[in-house]
Amino acid sequence: MAGHSWALMPSVLIVEILSYLSLKDMLNASSVCKTWRSYLFQAKLWTRMTFFLRRNRRQKNKFLADVCGRFIRECAINFDPHDGDELRECFHLLHVLSENRNIQVLQLHPRSCHTEWTDFVTSDRFACKIESIIQSSRKFKHLSLGCSEELLAHCEKWMDILSRLHYNSLESLHLATVKEDSENYGIVDLDVNKFQAFTCLKHISIDYDHLNNRFLQIFSDSCSKPIETLNIHIHGVGPDHEKVTNASWRLFSSHNKNVEVTINLIHSYTGVSNLLDILKPSIPLTHFRQFFCSNINVAALGLMSSYYSQTLTSVHIVDGMEDGLPVMYEVTANEDPFVMMAWRCMKLTHFTFIGYHIAEEDVIAIARLRGKLLKQLHIPTTCISWTDFDGIEHMGNNGNEFDTMISDSVGYRWKPLRDHQLPDAVFDDWADAEQAYNEILLHDQRYKSALKVDNGTTQ
Ligand SMILES: *[C@@H]1O[C@H](CO)[C@@H](O)[C@H](O)[C@H]1NC(C)=O
Ligand SMILES: *[C@@H]1O[C@H](CO)[C@@H](O)[C@H](O)[C@H]1NC(C)=O
Ligand SMILES: *[C@@H]1O[C@H](CO)[C@@H](O)[C@H](O)[C@H]1NC(C)=O
Repeated sequence: MAGHSWALMPSVLIVEILSYLSLKDMLNASSVCKTWRSYLFQAKLWTRMTFFLRRNRRQKNKFLADVCGRFIRECAINFDPHDGDELRECFHLLHVLSENRNIQVLQLHPRSCHTEWTDFVTSDRFACKIESIIQSSRKFKHLSLGCSEELLAHCEKWMDILSRLHYNSLESLHLATVKEDSENYGIVDLDVNKFQAFTCLKHISIDYDHLNNRFLQIFSDSCSKPIETLNIHIHGVGPDHEKVTNASWRLFSSHNKNVEVTINLIHSYTGVSNLLDILKPSIPLTHFRQFFCSNINVAALGLMSSYYSQTLTSVHIVDGMEDGLPVMYEVTANEDPFVMMAWRCMKLTHFTFIGYHIAEEDVIAIARLRGKLLKQLHIPTTCISWTDFDGIEHMGNNGNEFDTMISDSVGYRWKPLRDHQLPDAVFDDWADAEQAYNEILLHDQRYKSALKVDNGTTQ
Protein backbone atom coordinates (compact mmCIF):
# COMPACT_ATOMS: atom_id res chain seq x y z
CA MET A 1 0.00 0.00 0.00
CA ALA A 2 1.39 3.44 -0.90
CA GLY A 3 2.61 5.51 2.04
CA HIS A 4 -0.14 8.09 2.31
CA SER A 5 -3.05 5.76 1.72
CA TRP A 6 -3.17 4.43 5.31
CA ALA A 7 -5.13 7.48 6.23
CA LEU A 8 -7.61 6.62 3.51
CA MET A 9 -8.34 3.17 4.82
CA PRO A 10 -12.02 2.70 5.57
CA SER A 11 -12.73 3.48 9.19
CA VAL A 12 -14.34 0.10 9.84
CA LEU A 13 -11.08 -1.57 8.88
CA ILE A 14 -8.96 0.62 11.09
CA VAL A 15 -11.26 0.14 14.02
CA GLU A 16 -11.16 -3.57 13.34
CA ILE A 17 -7.36 -3.56 13.35
CA LEU A 18 -7.16 -1.46 16.50
CA SER A 19 -9.49 -3.88 18.20
CA TYR A 20 -6.81 -6.57 18.14
CA LEU A 21 -4.27 -4.42 19.96
CA SER A 22 -3.56 -4.03 23.64
CA LEU A 23 -4.39 -0.72 25.28
CA LYS A 24 -0.77 0.39 25.06
CA ASP A 25 -0.41 -0.45 21.39
CA MET A 26 -3.76 1.09 20.68
CA LEU A 27 -2.64 4.38 22.20
CA ASN A 28 0.60 4.10 20.27
CA ALA A 29 -1.19 3.40 17.02
CA SER A 30 -3.47 6.34 17.53
CA SER A 31 -0.48 8.65 17.51
CA VAL A 32 0.11 7.79 13.85
CA CYS A 33 -2.18 10.49 12.53
CA LYS A 34 -5.21 12.57 13.28
CA THR A 35 -7.61 10.21 11.54
CA TRP A 36 -6.44 7.22 13.51
CA ARG A 37 -6.63 9.23 16.70
CA SER A 38 -10.23 10.05 15.98
CA TYR A 39 -10.95 6.32 15.81
CA LEU A 40 -9.43 5.58 19.17
CA PHE A 41 -12.50 6.26 21.19
CA GLN A 42 -14.88 4.17 19.17
CA ALA A 43 -17.25 2.21 21.30
CA LYS A 44 -16.33 -1.01 19.53
CA LEU A 45 -12.77 -0.84 20.82
CA TRP A 46 -13.74 -0.42 24.41
CA THR A 47 -16.23 -3.06 25.29
CA ARG A 48 -14.66 -4.09 28.56
CA MET A 49 -12.61 -2.16 31.08
CA THR A 50 -11.24 -2.73 34.51
CA PHE A 51 -10.59 0.47 36.40
CA PHE A 52 -7.87 0.31 38.99
CA LEU A 53 -8.56 3.39 41.02
CA ARG A 54 -5.23 4.38 42.50
CA ARG A 55 -3.82 7.66 43.68
CA ASN A 56 -1.09 7.76 41.05
CA ARG A 57 -3.44 7.25 38.12
CA ARG A 58 -6.17 9.59 39.11
CA GLN A 59 -5.97 11.83 36.06
CA LYS A 60 -5.73 9.03 33.57
CA ASN A 61 -8.64 7.21 35.21
CA LYS A 62 -10.78 10.29 35.27
CA PHE A 63 -10.11 10.86 31.60
CA LEU A 64 -10.91 7.23 30.70
CA ALA A 65 -13.98 7.25 32.92
CA ASP A 66 -15.33 10.40 31.30
CA VAL A 67 -14.63 9.21 27.78
CA CYS A 68 -15.10 5.43 27.83
CA GLY A 69 -17.50 5.24 30.74
CA ARG A 70 -20.08 6.64 28.34
CA PHE A 71 -20.07 3.62 26.05
CA ILE A 72 -18.28 0.57 27.52
CA ARG A 73 -20.38 -2.52 27.98
CA GLU A 74 -18.52 -4.24 30.78
CA CYS A 75 -17.04 -2.42 33.70
CA ALA A 76 -15.12 -3.75 36.68
CA ILE A 77 -14.02 -1.31 39.36
CA ASN A 78 -11.13 -2.15 41.65
CA PHE A 79 -10.95 0.34 44.52
CA ASP A 80 -10.09 0.77 48.16
CA PRO A 81 -13.35 1.42 50.02
CA HIS A 82 -11.45 2.81 53.02
CA ASP A 83 -9.99 5.61 50.94
CA GLY A 84 -12.37 8.56 50.66
CA ASP A 85 -10.82 9.77 47.42
CA GLU A 86 -11.08 6.42 45.70
CA LEU A 87 -14.63 6.05 46.91
CA ARG A 88 -15.48 9.40 45.41
CA GLU A 89 -13.78 8.43 42.16
CA CYS A 90 -15.74 5.20 42.08
CA PHE A 91 -18.91 7.16 42.68
CA HIS A 92 -18.05 9.48 39.82
CA LEU A 93 -17.49 6.52 37.53
CA LEU A 94 -20.86 5.06 38.54
CA HIS A 95 -22.37 8.39 37.70
CA VAL A 96 -20.91 8.33 34.20
CA LEU A 97 -22.07 4.73 33.76
CA SER A 98 -25.58 5.65 34.81
CA GLU A 99 -25.84 7.64 31.59
CA ASN A 100 -24.46 4.82 29.46
CA ARG A 101 -27.25 2.80 27.94
CA ASN A 102 -24.80 0.18 26.62
CA ILE A 103 -23.66 -0.94 30.03
CA GLN A 104 -24.34 -4.64 30.61
CA VAL A 105 -21.90 -5.71 33.25
CA LEU A 106 -21.11 -4.04 36.55
CA GLN A 107 -18.62 -5.70 38.78
CA LEU A 108 -17.55 -4.03 42.00
CA HIS A 109 -14.19 -5.21 43.16
CA PRO A 110 -13.45 -3.42 46.44
CA ARG A 111 -10.21 -4.34 48.13
CA SER A 112 -12.15 -4.82 51.35
CA CYS A 113 -15.73 -5.97 51.84
CA HIS A 114 -16.42 -3.14 54.27
CA THR A 115 -16.78 0.42 53.12
CA GLU A 116 -16.04 3.57 55.03
CA TRP A 117 -18.79 5.78 53.66
CA THR A 118 -18.21 9.50 53.71
CA ASP A 119 -20.53 12.47 54.03
CA PHE A 120 -20.46 12.85 50.29
CA VAL A 121 -20.54 9.20 49.25
CA THR A 122 -23.10 7.59 51.52
CA SER A 123 -24.29 4.05 51.00
CA ASP A 124 -27.66 5.46 49.91
CA ARG A 125 -26.18 7.69 47.25
CA PHE A 126 -23.94 4.89 46.05
CA ALA A 127 -26.87 2.49 45.84
CA CYS A 128 -28.90 5.09 43.97
CA LYS A 129 -26.26 5.28 41.27
CA ILE A 130 -26.31 1.51 40.87
CA GLU A 131 -30.05 1.73 40.59
CA SER A 132 -29.81 4.32 37.81
CA ILE A 133 -27.31 2.16 35.97
CA ILE A 134 -29.64 -0.81 36.01
CA GLN A 135 -32.56 1.38 35.15
CA SER A 136 -31.02 3.04 32.13
CA SER A 137 -29.20 0.02 30.71
CA ARG A 138 -30.81 -1.39 27.60
CA LYS A 139 -29.74 -4.91 28.38
CA PHE A 140 -28.22 -5.77 31.72
CA LYS A 141 -26.38 -9.06 32.23
CA HIS A 142 -24.25 -9.08 35.33
CA LEU A 143 -24.22 -7.48 38.75
CA SER A 144 -21.83 -8.21 41.57
CA LEU A 145 -21.86 -6.17 44.73
CA GLY A 146 -18.35 -7.04 45.84
CA CYS A 147 -19.67 -8.81 48.96
CA SER A 148 -20.81 -5.51 50.43
CA GLU A 149 -23.22 -6.03 53.29
CA GLU A 150 -24.49 -2.46 53.19
CA LEU A 151 -25.24 -2.54 49.49
CA LEU A 152 -27.22 -5.73 49.90
CA ALA A 153 -29.67 -3.72 52.00
CA HIS A 154 -30.84 -2.16 48.72
CA CYS A 155 -31.35 -5.40 46.84
CA GLU A 156 -35.14 -5.58 46.98
CA LYS A 157 -35.42 -2.48 44.85
CA TRP A 158 -32.82 -3.71 42.39
CA MET A 159 -34.52 -7.07 42.16
CA ASP A 160 -37.74 -5.28 41.20
CA ILE A 161 -36.07 -3.35 38.43
CA LEU A 162 -34.02 -6.28 37.20
CA SER A 163 -36.96 -8.63 37.11
CA ARG A 164 -39.05 -6.05 35.27
CA LEU A 165 -36.53 -4.72 32.74
CA HIS A 166 -33.85 -7.35 32.40
CA TYR A 167 -35.58 -10.64 33.10
CA ASN A 168 -34.48 -12.01 29.75
CA SER A 169 -30.89 -10.77 29.74
CA LEU A 170 -29.62 -11.13 33.29
CA GLU A 171 -27.07 -13.97 33.45
CA SER A 172 -25.46 -13.48 36.80
CA LEU A 173 -26.44 -11.95 40.08
CA HIS A 174 -24.01 -11.94 42.96
CA LEU A 175 -25.63 -10.86 46.19
CA ALA A 176 -23.57 -12.85 48.68
CA THR A 177 -21.84 -10.77 51.34
CA VAL A 178 -19.26 -10.74 54.08
CA LYS A 179 -20.64 -9.57 57.42
CA GLU A 180 -18.99 -7.02 59.64
CA ASP A 181 -20.11 -9.13 62.60
CA SER A 182 -20.95 -12.62 61.44
CA GLU A 183 -22.67 -13.63 64.66
CA ASN A 184 -24.94 -10.65 64.91
CA TYR A 185 -26.53 -8.94 61.93
CA GLY A 186 -29.93 -8.11 60.57
CA ILE A 187 -31.23 -10.24 57.73
CA VAL A 188 -32.15 -8.19 54.70
CA ASP A 189 -35.54 -8.86 53.12
CA LEU A 190 -35.19 -10.67 49.86
CA ASP A 191 -38.18 -12.37 48.34
CA VAL A 192 -36.76 -15.36 46.50
CA ASN A 193 -39.90 -15.56 44.37
CA LYS A 194 -38.50 -12.65 42.39
CA PHE A 195 -35.90 -15.04 40.97
CA GLN A 196 -38.67 -16.75 39.09
CA ALA A 197 -38.86 -13.91 36.59
CA PHE A 198 -35.40 -14.49 35.13
CA THR A 199 -35.17 -16.67 32.09
CA CYS A 200 -31.43 -16.95 31.57
CA LEU A 201 -29.86 -16.61 34.99
CA LYS A 202 -26.86 -18.96 35.22
CA HIS A 203 -24.64 -17.73 38.02
CA ILE A 204 -25.90 -16.81 41.48
CA SER A 205 -24.24 -15.90 44.76
CA ILE A 206 -26.45 -15.69 47.78
CA ASP A 207 -26.18 -15.68 51.56
CA TYR A 208 -27.39 -18.83 53.28
CA ASP A 209 -29.86 -16.57 55.10
CA HIS A 210 -31.84 -16.37 51.87
CA LEU A 211 -31.48 -19.93 50.73
CA ASN A 212 -34.60 -21.97 51.24
CA ASN A 213 -36.57 -24.78 49.66
CA ARG A 214 -38.56 -22.37 47.54
CA PHE A 215 -35.37 -20.95 46.05
CA LEU A 216 -34.16 -24.39 45.01
CA GLN A 217 -37.58 -25.26 43.70
CA ILE A 218 -37.61 -22.22 41.39
CA PHE A 219 -34.42 -23.47 39.79
CA SER A 220 -35.66 -27.04 39.58
CA ASP A 221 -38.56 -26.11 37.38
CA SER A 222 -38.38 -27.79 34.01
CA CYS A 223 -39.11 -24.42 32.34
CA SER A 224 -36.08 -22.70 33.80
CA LYS A 225 -32.67 -22.82 32.17
CA PRO A 226 -30.05 -24.78 34.08
CA ILE A 227 -27.93 -22.93 36.62
CA GLU A 228 -24.16 -23.29 36.25
CA THR A 229 -22.87 -21.73 39.44
CA LEU A 230 -24.36 -21.36 42.89
CA ASN A 231 -22.19 -19.74 45.56
CA ILE A 232 -23.47 -19.79 49.10
CA HIS A 233 -22.01 -17.71 51.92
CA ILE A 234 -22.70 -18.92 55.42
CA HIS A 235 -22.35 -16.54 58.37
CA GLY A 236 -24.64 -17.03 61.32
CA VAL A 237 -27.42 -19.57 61.15
CA GLY A 238 -30.59 -18.24 62.73
CA PRO A 239 -32.65 -20.62 64.89
CA ASP A 240 -35.63 -20.03 62.60
CA HIS A 241 -33.76 -20.65 59.37
CA GLU A 242 -35.90 -22.95 57.28
CA LYS A 243 -34.36 -26.41 56.95
CA VAL A 244 -33.36 -26.97 53.36
CA THR A 245 -34.22 -30.57 52.59
CA ASN A 246 -32.35 -33.31 50.83
CA ALA A 247 -35.36 -33.69 48.56
CA SER A 248 -35.10 -30.06 47.39
CA TRP A 249 -31.42 -30.50 46.67
CA ARG A 250 -32.11 -33.72 44.83
CA LEU A 251 -34.57 -32.03 42.48
CA PHE A 252 -32.22 -29.08 42.07
CA SER A 253 -29.26 -31.22 41.17
CA SER A 254 -31.20 -33.40 38.77
CA HIS A 255 -32.43 -30.35 36.87
CA ASN A 256 -29.08 -28.56 36.93
CA LYS A 257 -26.80 -31.35 35.82
CA ASN A 258 -23.59 -29.36 35.50
CA VAL A 259 -24.04 -26.97 38.38
CA GLU A 260 -21.09 -26.20 40.62
CA VAL A 261 -22.06 -25.43 44.18
CA THR A 262 -19.60 -23.57 46.38
CA ILE A 263 -20.02 -23.23 50.13
CA ASN A 264 -18.05 -20.47 51.81
CA LEU A 265 -18.20 -20.28 55.59
CA ILE A 266 -16.82 -16.90 56.67
CA HIS A 267 -16.10 -16.23 60.36
CA SER A 268 -18.89 -18.66 60.93
CA TYR A 269 -18.49 -20.58 64.16
CA THR A 270 -22.21 -21.30 64.13
CA GLY A 271 -22.15 -22.46 60.53
CA VAL A 272 -19.45 -25.01 61.23
CA SER A 273 -21.31 -26.23 64.33
CA ASN A 274 -24.43 -26.67 62.22
CA LEU A 275 -22.76 -28.34 59.26
CA LEU A 276 -24.35 -31.72 59.88
CA ASP A 277 -27.70 -30.02 59.44
CA ILE A 278 -26.68 -27.93 56.45
CA LEU A 279 -24.90 -30.55 54.38
CA LYS A 280 -27.33 -32.79 52.58
CA PRO A 281 -26.24 -35.79 50.54
CA SER A 282 -27.82 -34.42 47.38
CA ILE A 283 -25.98 -31.08 47.29
CA PRO A 284 -23.80 -31.15 44.17
CA LEU A 285 -21.00 -29.67 46.27
CA THR A 286 -17.91 -28.74 44.27
CA HIS A 287 -15.97 -26.33 46.47
CA PHE A 288 -15.94 -26.23 50.23
CA ARG A 289 -14.18 -23.42 52.05
CA GLN A 290 -14.06 -22.13 55.55
CA PHE A 291 -12.28 -18.98 56.60
CA PHE A 292 -11.54 -18.19 60.24
CA CYS A 293 -14.39 -20.14 61.78
CA SER A 294 -12.34 -21.11 64.89
CA ASN A 295 -13.79 -24.52 64.64
CA ILE A 296 -13.64 -27.68 62.62
CA ASN A 297 -16.44 -30.22 62.35
CA VAL A 298 -14.77 -33.60 62.08
CA ALA A 299 -18.03 -35.53 61.85
CA ALA A 300 -19.27 -33.36 58.98
CA LEU A 301 -15.95 -33.63 57.17
CA GLY A 302 -16.22 -37.37 57.51
CA LEU A 303 -19.64 -37.39 55.88
CA MET A 304 -18.46 -35.14 53.08
CA SER A 305 -16.17 -37.80 51.73
CA SER A 306 -19.09 -40.13 51.24
CA TYR A 307 -21.70 -37.56 50.18
CA TYR A 308 -19.55 -35.71 47.68
CA SER A 309 -17.20 -38.38 46.41
CA GLN A 310 -18.30 -37.63 42.83
CA THR A 311 -18.37 -33.84 42.95
CA LEU A 312 -15.95 -32.30 45.45
CA THR A 313 -12.97 -30.75 43.70
CA SER A 314 -11.56 -28.35 46.26
CA VAL A 315 -11.32 -27.92 50.00
CA HIS A 316 -9.88 -24.75 51.47
CA ILE A 317 -9.67 -24.28 55.23
CA VAL A 318 -7.84 -21.39 56.86
CA ASP A 319 -7.91 -20.51 60.51
CA GLY A 320 -5.92 -18.59 63.07
CA MET A 321 -3.42 -20.52 65.19
CA GLU A 322 -3.26 -20.36 68.97
CA ASP A 323 -0.18 -18.55 70.24
CA GLY A 324 1.72 -19.51 67.12
CA LEU A 325 0.81 -23.19 67.39
CA PRO A 326 -1.53 -25.06 65.07
CA VAL A 327 -4.86 -26.03 66.56
CA MET A 328 -5.38 -29.72 67.32
CA TYR A 329 -8.62 -31.41 66.41
CA GLU A 330 -9.88 -34.69 67.69
CA VAL A 331 -10.39 -37.53 65.27
CA THR A 332 -13.01 -39.99 66.42
CA ALA A 333 -12.86 -42.37 63.46
CA ASN A 334 -9.88 -44.55 62.54
CA GLU A 335 -8.77 -42.32 59.75
CA ASP A 336 -8.15 -38.61 59.53
CA PRO A 337 -11.15 -37.04 57.71
CA PHE A 338 -8.88 -35.46 55.09
CA VAL A 339 -7.18 -38.74 54.31
CA MET A 340 -10.67 -40.21 53.86
CA MET A 341 -11.51 -37.36 51.52
CA ALA A 342 -8.37 -37.91 49.49
CA TRP A 343 -9.27 -41.54 49.23
CA ARG A 344 -12.93 -41.24 48.30
CA CYS A 345 -13.34 -37.93 46.49
CA MET A 346 -12.27 -38.85 43.00
CA LYS A 347 -12.27 -35.28 41.71
CA LEU A 348 -10.38 -33.61 44.52
CA THR A 349 -7.62 -31.54 42.92
CA HIS A 350 -7.07 -28.64 45.35
CA PHE A 351 -6.47 -28.94 49.05
CA THR A 352 -5.51 -26.08 51.37
CA PHE A 353 -5.34 -26.61 55.10
CA ILE A 354 -3.88 -23.84 57.26
CA GLY A 355 -3.95 -23.28 61.00
CA TYR A 356 -4.59 -26.85 62.12
CA HIS A 357 -2.23 -29.55 63.14
CA ILE A 358 -1.61 -32.30 60.61
CA ALA A 359 0.64 -35.32 60.95
CA GLU A 360 3.38 -35.93 58.43
CA GLU A 361 2.05 -39.36 57.53
CA ASP A 362 -1.37 -37.91 56.76
CA VAL A 363 0.12 -35.40 54.34
CA ILE A 364 1.97 -38.28 52.67
CA ALA A 365 -1.22 -40.33 52.53
CA ILE A 366 -3.16 -37.48 50.94
CA ALA A 367 -0.46 -36.91 48.33
CA ARG A 368 -0.21 -40.63 47.52
CA LEU A 369 -3.95 -41.14 47.31
CA ARG A 370 -4.58 -38.19 44.99
CA GLY A 371 -1.27 -38.51 43.18
CA LYS A 372 -0.77 -36.43 40.07
CA LEU A 373 -4.38 -35.33 40.11
CA LEU A 374 -3.61 -33.16 43.12
CA LYS A 375 -2.78 -29.85 41.47
CA GLN A 376 -2.53 -27.85 44.65
CA LEU A 377 -1.55 -28.94 48.13
CA HIS A 378 -1.12 -25.99 50.47
CA ILE A 379 -0.01 -26.94 53.94
CA PRO A 380 2.29 -24.80 56.08
CA THR A 381 5.51 -26.19 57.54
CA THR A 382 4.42 -24.84 60.93
CA CYS A 383 1.38 -27.10 60.96
CA ILE A 384 3.06 -30.40 60.15
CA SER A 385 4.14 -32.71 62.95
CA TRP A 386 6.36 -35.77 62.71
CA THR A 387 7.24 -38.45 65.14
CA ASP A 388 10.86 -39.53 65.57
CA PHE A 389 12.17 -43.05 66.29
CA ASP A 390 11.63 -42.60 70.00
CA GLY A 391 7.99 -41.79 69.44
CA ILE A 392 8.43 -38.11 70.28
CA GLU A 393 6.41 -35.65 68.26
CA HIS A 394 8.04 -32.60 66.70
CA MET A 395 6.58 -29.68 64.85
CA GLY A 396 7.82 -28.32 61.54
CA ASN A 397 8.43 -30.61 58.62
CA ASN A 398 11.05 -33.23 58.46
CA GLY A 399 13.07 -31.67 55.66
CA ASN A 400 14.04 -32.52 52.14
CA GLU A 401 13.26 -36.20 52.23
CA PHE A 402 9.67 -35.47 53.10
CA ASP A 403 9.34 -32.78 50.42
CA THR A 404 10.79 -35.16 47.83
CA MET A 405 8.38 -37.89 48.80
CA ILE A 406 5.41 -35.57 48.32
CA SER A 407 6.87 -34.19 45.10
CA ASP A 408 7.20 -37.71 43.70
CA SER A 409 3.55 -38.38 44.43
CA VAL A 410 2.08 -35.18 43.04
CA GLY A 411 4.45 -34.96 40.09
CA TYR A 412 5.81 -31.46 40.60
CA ARG A 413 8.34 -29.88 42.93
CA TRP A 414 6.38 -29.54 46.12
CA LYS A 415 7.23 -27.41 49.15
CA PRO A 416 5.17 -26.72 52.23
CA LEU A 417 4.14 -23.11 52.77
CA ARG A 418 6.56 -20.94 54.73
CA ASP A 419 5.28 -18.63 57.44
CA HIS A 420 5.73 -15.52 55.33
CA GLN A 421 3.43 -16.99 52.68
CA LEU A 422 0.53 -17.21 55.11
CA PRO A 423 -2.04 -14.49 55.70
CA ASP A 424 -1.10 -12.36 58.74
CA ALA A 425 -4.33 -13.27 60.48
CA VAL A 426 -3.12 -16.86 60.83
CA PHE A 427 -0.63 -15.67 63.46
CA ASP A 428 -2.21 -12.48 64.66
CA ASP A 429 -5.79 -12.30 65.94
CA TRP A 430 -5.86 -8.58 65.34
CA ALA A 431 -4.65 -8.69 61.76
CA ASP A 432 -7.04 -8.17 58.89
CA ALA A 433 -8.39 -11.60 57.94
CA GLU A 434 -9.86 -10.34 54.69
CA GLN A 435 -6.61 -10.72 52.80
CA ALA A 436 -7.09 -14.48 53.18
CA TYR A 437 -10.44 -14.56 51.39
CA ASN A 438 -11.34 -11.30 49.68
CA GLU A 439 -9.80 -12.19 46.32
CA ILE A 440 -11.14 -15.73 46.41
CA LEU A 441 -14.69 -14.59 47.08
CA LEU A 442 -14.56 -11.89 44.43
CA HIS A 443 -13.14 -14.35 41.95
CA ASP A 444 -16.26 -16.47 42.47
CA GLN A 445 -18.29 -13.43 41.43
CA ARG A 446 -16.46 -12.37 38.31
CA TYR A 447 -18.22 -12.07 35.00
CA LYS A 448 -17.85 -15.27 33.02
CA SER A 449 -18.01 -14.10 29.49
CA ALA A 450 -18.35 -16.51 26.60
CA LEU A 451 -16.94 -13.90 24.25
CA LYS A 452 -13.40 -13.10 23.32
CA VAL A 453 -11.74 -11.19 26.12
CA ASP A 454 -10.92 -7.62 25.20
CA ASN A 455 -7.80 -6.52 26.88
CA GLY A 456 -8.55 -2.95 27.84
CA THR A 457 -7.49 -2.39 31.41
CA THR A 458 -6.36 0.93 32.75
CA GLN A 459 -3.32 -0.59 34.36
C1 LIG B 1 5.24 2.69 19.81
O1 LIG B 1 5.68 2.13 18.60
C2 LIG B 1 7.04 2.42 18.28
C3 LIG B 1 7.30 1.90 16.88
O2 LIG B 1 7.08 0.53 16.80
C4 LIG B 1 7.92 1.78 19.33
O3 LIG B 1 9.27 2.08 19.05
C5 LIG B 1 7.54 2.28 20.68
O4 LIG B 1 8.28 1.62 21.68
C6 LIG B 1 6.08 2.10 20.93
N1 LIG B 1 5.71 2.69 22.20
C7 LIG B 1 5.01 2.07 23.11
C8 LIG B 1 4.68 2.88 24.32
O5 LIG B 1 4.66 0.91 22.97
C1 LIG C 1 -30.89 -37.85 49.86
O1 LIG C 1 -31.13 -38.09 48.50
C2 LIG C 1 -30.36 -39.11 47.91
C3 LIG C 1 -30.70 -39.18 46.45
O2 LIG C 1 -30.14 -38.13 45.76
C4 LIG C 1 -30.62 -40.43 48.59
O3 LIG C 1 -29.80 -41.42 48.02
C5 LIG C 1 -30.34 -40.30 50.07
O4 LIG C 1 -30.68 -41.49 50.73
C6 LIG C 1 -31.10 -39.13 50.67
N1 LIG C 1 -30.59 -38.96 52.01
C7 LIG C 1 -31.33 -38.58 53.03
C8 LIG C 1 -30.64 -38.45 54.32
O5 LIG C 1 -32.51 -38.35 52.90
C1 LIG D 1 -4.08 -9.11 28.78
O1 LIG D 1 -2.80 -8.64 28.48
C2 LIG D 1 -1.82 -9.03 29.41
C3 LIG D 1 -0.50 -8.36 29.04
O2 LIG D 1 -0.44 -8.01 27.68
C4 LIG D 1 -1.70 -10.54 29.40
O3 LIG D 1 -0.72 -10.97 30.32
C5 LIG D 1 -3.03 -11.13 29.77
O4 LIG D 1 -2.99 -12.53 29.69
C6 LIG D 1 -4.11 -10.61 28.85
N1 LIG D 1 -5.38 -11.06 29.34
C7 LIG D 1 -6.30 -11.58 28.58
C8 LIG D 1 -7.51 -12.05 29.31
O5 LIG D 1 -6.19 -11.67 27.37
